[in-house]
Amino acid sequence: MTTPATRTVLITGANSGIGQAAATELARRGWRVFATARSPERGDIAVSQIREASGSSAVELLELDLASFASVRRAADEFLERSERLDALVNNAGVILSERTLTEDGLESTMQVNHFGHFLLTSLLLPTVLQSAEPCVVNVSSIVHQRAERMPLDDLSLERRWGAMYPYAVSKLANVLFTRELHRRYASQNLATFAVHPGGVRTGFGRDGDVRGLLGRLMPLAGPLMMSPARGAAPIVELAVDARHRAHSGSYFSRHKRQDPSRAAQRDDDARSLWERSLELTDASWPAESPA
Ligand SMILES: NC(=O)c1ccc[n+]([C@@H]2O[C@H](COP(=O)([O-])OP(=O)(O)OC[C@H]3O[C@@H](n4cnc5c(N)ncnc54)[C@H](OP(=O)(O)O)[C@@H]3O)[C@@H](O)[C@H]2O)c1
Repeated sequence: MTTPATRTVLITGANSGIGQAAATELARRGWRVFATARSPERGDIAVSQIREASGSSAVELLELDLASFASVRRAADEFLERSERLDALVNNAGVILSERTLTEDGLESTMQVNHFGHFLLTSLLLPTVLQSAEPCVVNVSSIVHQRAERMPLDDLSLERRWGAMYPYAVSKLANVLFTRELHRRYASQNLATFAVHPGGVRTGFGRDGDVRGLLGRLMPLAGPLMMSPARGAAPIVELAVDARHRAHSGSYFSRHKRQDPSRAAQRDDDARSLWERSLELTDASWPAESPA
């Protein structure tokens, strides 16, 4: 089999908001796009909208529920049956939840959707990504990672501590630590990986009843102050397409600007420990690392 010439991207949570906007822009630029959605109905509608808005027919739906490791493995298998090429993986899907719930895998839902599911997905797709001339993984984090003062490595299912923003903040801190460790392990194989805060973006995020109380009432009020999904997606698209950023692999970007993340997010010992714990909890197996 020959590898098709078209650059290919997989974007998680591409049936709405920032993910859909990034998918639309990359399709418009001629990329083959795999848009994941946990609901096939919402996914079908989004794929039609992305095709229409981008003028590209090379947009495909992939069903993926990050709250289920079985679904993550199925989605990766299906992707690999449909494509032998993946240049960029954009781990974008995310949730913020007021209630502490457990997934079918027994982990806290925010942590599994925002971190562990993406950790497993990346492990399954990385061998294909690494075959690209410019392999890239973009993890969509948030400035809110700063609200978690330290990665709770002995309480990754957040049994001992809970709060309005805390689970989300910890999961977004995990996105930054994951990015650093992915860089440390695979930069020598030409991987460029980034964590990015897209800005305050007007999407459905946290507005579908998942967030209750004061925070749930305040989030919709911020809408008019926020930017459009297309603007929010712009830094993600830039990191995937602009090779000049590759020299800064492992970095955190606040929109288009490279920045130091919080002190907790710069703890390489925590990044390593989070990787080891995530490995145990997801049963992931990663491609061999080559020495730097
Ligand atoms: N909006 C902001 O101001 C902002 C700021 C900083 C960071 N972010 C980050 O940006 C990313 C995208 O958020 P957004 O603002 O575009 O919100 P959004 O419109 O709510 O999009 C979130 C996406 O994640 C998907 N998702 C949720 N649970 C999932 C699961 N179990 N499995 C697979 N996919 C799942 C959603 O699917 P459904 O439609 O099925 O729910 C949706 O497609 C998130 O990681 C968020 O943390 C957003």
